[in-house]
Amino acid sequence: MNFQLTEEQLMIRQAARDFAQHVLKPGVIDRDREMRYPYEEVKQMGELGFLGMMVSPEYGGGGMDTMSYVLAMEEISKVDSSCSVIMSVNNSLVCWGLEQFGTEEQKRKYLPDLASGRKIGAFCLSEPEAGSDATSQRTTAEDMGDYYLLNGTKNWITNGGTASVYLVMAQTHPDKAHKGINCLIVEKGMEGFVVGAKEDKLGIRASDTHTLLFNDVKVPKANRIGDDGFGFTFAMKTLSGGRIGIASQALGIASGAYELALEYAKTRKAFGKTISDHQAIQFKLADMATEIEAARLLIYKAAQLKDAHDNYDLASSMAKVFASEVAMRTTVEAVQIHGGYGYVKEYHVERLMRDAKITQIYEGTSEVQRIVIGRSILK
Ligand code: CAA
Repeated sequence: MNFQLTEEQLMIRQAARDFAQHVLKPGVIDRDREMRYPYEEVKQMGELGFLGMMVSPEYGGGGMDTMSYVLAMEEISKVDSSCSVIMSVNNSLVCWGLEQFGTEEQKRKYLPDLASGRKIGAFCLSEPEAGSDATSQRTTAEDMGDYYLLNGTKNWITNGGTASVYLVMAQTHPDKAHKGINCLIVEKGMEGFVVGAKEDKLGIRASDTHTLLFNDVKVPKANRIGDDGFGFTFAMKTLSGGRIGIASQALGIASGAYELALEYAKTRKAFGKTISDHQAIQFKLADMATEIEAARLLIYKAAQLKDAHDNYDLASSMAKVFASEVAMRTTVEAVQIHGGYGYVKEYHVERLMRDAKITQIYEGTSEVQRIVIGRSILK
């Protein structure tokens, strides 16, 4: 595989880096502490084209490849993973899913606003009793002729309060198990749709994560994505690409923490020399750099397979499980290298460590990735 970046990809990476360092970094500690949603920053991400990167220009997007998206995700996640999860869900789960599987009418109606950030999307699969076990959907979409009657509860929904467009998985034919699930486009303001409690989270605290309640919501048939019963396949196919985005987020968290630790190690003195002159610290930095590079290559491979329209399910799960575990290990070590300074907010690494944890949980836990990988290699 050729991992040489094009001029355009390098420019996109630089633009994302500038935005992250100059716009996101100044307020990131306060937003995290106060759980304050980055309205202004998200608006700017939309204006810069980061919210609909892979959407075709025909529908108002940037028409970029997955590699460009990965590069931008890494840079933004080095600084602010609350912003990058908003970006990732909007790009890979909502826009990509709609463009691949939506009708022409649905694409024209929803994509221009979503790709520009005028509206934000949410992807609603998880439920109180259906997280990893996603086939066990309890939310129901009863077929009423012209419309579906939607009832149920969704949990841990990223962009839950701020989104305007929600892709909701629900069971229509319980006798058909996962083949009876549909994906419905639900708009904020539909009668019976209630945004519930906001979660107070360990990390990615500036993003808004909510419970959503659907009480006899009438969703027009025209809002179903794909054929009757396509919803679970839709969710799985969409999540395969989403996992490349979250792997890139994990990579950004790891490389952000590593860069901070490297700089700190070169300036902090102990026992008469900089701590980077101590082999104990050099070994840590060497492991961090090696693992980050390996994660990056796995992610680039998955992105290239996706751009080549090849199967990337296995590659995206491998990239996600590895990168998220690298993010966790690297951030813990970055805090350790910082010593006491690493434990306070001002030095950023404690936030990166808290943010790293979610990459092992959402869009499929590490255990789910290993199920996908195991089944693929044993097939
Ligand atoms: N593409 C297409 N179809 C797929 C697929 C894929 N990538 N993966 C699975 N399927 C199909 C299977 O072929 C099977 O269909 P058939 O019966 O027709 O063959 C069907 O889906 C069910 O698959 P399994 O039999 O493998 O089902 P399972 O229950 O044993 O395991 C699972 C499925 C892999 C564990 C799946 O439930 C899963 O991925 N769970 C994790 C869910 C998840 O990632 N949730 C994240 C929530 S979204 C989120 O976090 C967003 C956010 O806000 C940040």
